[in-house]
Amino acid sequence: MIDMTRIQFGILADTFHTPVKGEMAFLPDFLILVDECGDIAATFTADDAEHSVYVNALRDASKLNIVEKGQFLMPGLVDLHCHAPQWPQAGKGLDLPLYDWLQNYTFPLENRYGDLAFAEPVYQDVTRTLLANGTTSAVYFASIHREASELLAKTSLEQGQRAFVGKINMDNAEQCPDFYREPSVEEALAETEAFIQNVRGLKGNEHGLVKPVITPRFVPSCTETLLRELGKLVQQHDVHMQTHCSESDWARDYALQHYGKTDIEIYAEAGLLNNKTVLAHSIFLTDNDVAMLKEFDAGIGHCPLSNMFFANAAMHTRELLDSGVSIGLGSDIAGAPSPSIFRASFDAVTHSRVREDGVDTRLTAGERGVAGSRVSFVEAFWMATAGGGRVLNEKVGVFEKDFHFDALVIKPSMLGNLRIWPNMDSPRDILEKIVSLGQSCDIDKVWVQGKQVK
Ligand code: GUN
Ligand code: FE
Repeated sequence: MIDMTRIQFGILADTFHTPVKGEMAFLPDFLILVDECGDIAATFTADDAEHSVYVNALRDASKLNIVEKGQFLMPGLVDLHCHAPQWPQAGKGLDLPLYDWLQNYTFPLENRYGDLAFAEPVYQDVTRTLLANGTTSAVYFASIHREASELLAKTSLEQGQRAFVGKINMDNAEQCPDFYREPSVEEALAETEAFIQNVRGLKGNEHGLVKPVITPRFVPSCTETLLRELGKLVQQHDVHMQTHCSESDWARDYALQHYGKTDIEIYAEAGLLNNKTVLAHSIFLTDNDVAMLKEFDAGIGHCPLSNMFFANAAMHTRELLDSGVSIGLGSDIAGAPSPSIFRASFDAVTHSRVREDGVDTRLTAGERGVAGSRVSFVEAFWMATAGGGRVLNEKVGVFEKDFHFDALVIKPSMLGNLRIWPNMDSPRDILEKIVSLGQSCDIDKVWVQGKQVK
């Protein structure tokens, strides 16, 4: 028998999750017991012998939370790649190619975060907006400024969001403007080390809800010395690492021309890759790159909508899912405008379908696309939840004993477009509709680490 004094609450709900890649589990009247730390102490399906015992015990203790029929519980969503300071830029400038977009829009905007008074309302809003959209775990690029990056970490913590926050590192004078560049490698490292300690030491962060991430922007922005020194910090501090990887023709060619190597080879040699690595995009991977990712157990943050603007090619999502490489989804705000990981899931599906069918109507159907490369809605939902958790090496994304209780309740709102017809929609139909049509107005409640934050 579970010690009920240690149970904070139980929740009884028609529940979706995807513990197995590609397989949907729909569990009517699933019961989840959440302990005092916000972790899952036990789960019971409706046909478990102990289900009714615990329902009654929780009810007697006034600790039973019942989600009404017509509403659905699911794991919180994981956004593996979001540039928080770019939020004011969402939906702007996307007619430009990556290099021009960075130089003309992004670097001038990010530079403004040297001013904490400018940063504060943006960081409040972006963290709140992501939570409202069901993102319980967010992996953020901040800016090069240590103090504003710490403010983003503090803001996420105060909002109760699980967050992985990186102070950006970029020092290559040939690629970074004078006004937005680290003054020296030494200073970049000192600021990054201070950032790691300060985030870990934030008041209220004793359980590590918010974690620091080592964040070289991408190969072109960094000198080789900086990459190697950051690699040493990754090894020393057992810390997450995020960066952009092989995201466009230009970025891929930059690495080949300057190093004669792929991004993955460069990052591996710098000591940056580990089992808590998030590589955004990763479009132009060689077979050897994929093998190396598996060797390091490093993960990919697939950003399908941003790829449609900047990648110059379609992601090999099907092959990567089949290869067993860890892969989840990212919004890539503001390389794409939507803060919703349901939207990223939907885009992962449509992106794969365009690739499967191809685009040139003058070719025959057989020649036009890449047969068998589609990704299903269930696989996309897996990437949005369990897959993202696996990339981060965190116990999030499924409802299993010892996982953190990060969850949301879907309640279709007449303010949005999600409609469920109980007599016509199967559980699979319902999940597909949530991914296709779900918006923040349909997300009625959100919990992170057992704490209700919406
Ligand atoms: N590559 C380097 N920096 C960035 C960025 O800010 N956004 C995107 N999408 N790609 C990048
Ligand atoms: Fe990005």
